[in-house]
Amino acid sequence: MQEALTYDDILLLPQYSDIRSRSEVDISTDLGKGLEIELPILSSPMDTITGLHMASSISHQGAGAIIHRYNTFQEQAAIIGKAVSIAEQHDKPHNIGFAVGLGSDVLDRVHVCLDAGATFVCVDVAHGHHVMMKEGLQNLRAIFGEKLHIMAGNVATLQAINDLADWGADSVRCNIGGGSICSTRVQTGHGHPGLQTIIDCAKTDRDVTIIADGGIRNSGDIVKALAAGADAVMLGSLLAGTRETPGEVFVDAKGRKYKTYRGMASKEAQINWRGKYSSFEGVSSTVPYRGKVRNVLVDLEKGIRSGLSYSGARSIEALQNNAKFVRQTSAGLGESRTHITSRKW
Ligand code: XMP
Repeated sequence: MQEALTYDDILLLPQYSDIRSRSEVDISTDLGKGLEIELPILSSPMDTITGLHMASSISHQGAGAIIHRYNTFQEQAAIIGKAVSIAEQHDKPHNIGFAVGLGSDVLDRVHVCLDAGATFVCVDVAHGHHVMMKEGLQNLRAIFGEKLHIMAGNVATLQAINDLADWGADSVRCNIGGGSICSTRVQTGHGHPGLQTIIDCAKTDRDVTIIADGGIRNSGDIVKALAAGADAVMLGSLLAGTRETPGEVFVDAKGRKYKTYRGMASKEAQINWRGKYSSFEGVSSTVPYRGKVRNVLVDLEKGIRSGLSYSGARSIEALQNNAKFVRQTSAGLGESRTHITSRKW
């Protein structure tokens, strides 16, 4: 049986660096067909992550946003229209995309959302290596032509990313069941550790870019994903609880503030959007309220820049060329984490 690693199993070996300031590091990334982002981060198309305010802020910070699809296509297009006109007020190029499923309204959704100003589409399916994805991608490509950037996923293997690229995807979300709110691996016994998925998918010889999606908990994980071959990362939990996420702020008896963060295949999300649930492969949770997403993104950006400089890399491509991975033991992992609080007196 093949061994498969994930983020905590490895570290990047520090290397000689002549980078004098983190500002010398370029962390922009080109995901293909005009989808270029200054910060290699995309917000996940989830109903507790990406709506109007998240899209506006994320885009303003130079990252990419994908408006979730758990609404009517008129509602989705209205959100896009507002987010785009905010971006335009700041006279900045924006990277605001939208998610679609593979239901009967896909073509209408794509038409109205593109008309509203979105720049890319994301075909958002839990198990993307599927005949319906094949038909959907081929259809979209035939109707909307070669210029449209089509993101698709999720996948867990090299064969899957190759197939999605052959069917028409320009970028692919890689990782199944590794997200913080996922229960796919528990419910179905299927999945593939997140970092190994990136390492395997990065072996593709197709013209396709890789988005590491799910299970990313800090800027160190982002740097590891990029070093392993990802062109960008997609974030849910790292953005959850911020002011810009959709949903209300709850205050408990002690005055602590919370927001909801839930998997889109959780019982709660399904009941909300479809009035019933079938098989559920996610959970719903509350997370502490964290204020402005801008502050979260600024901290992540600093961590990513610092990470590249530890590998002596001025760009993501240089990081991928320079990266030297080492395995760490569980004792090493304990040492890697802040451990002052575990000292016994
Ligand atoms: P993080 O770890 O960033 O993960 O919170 C976000 C990613 O998780 C995926 N996602 C799900 N996966 N059941 C799953 O197995 C779900 O209900 C679910 N909802 C979201 C998705 O890829 C997202 O970007």
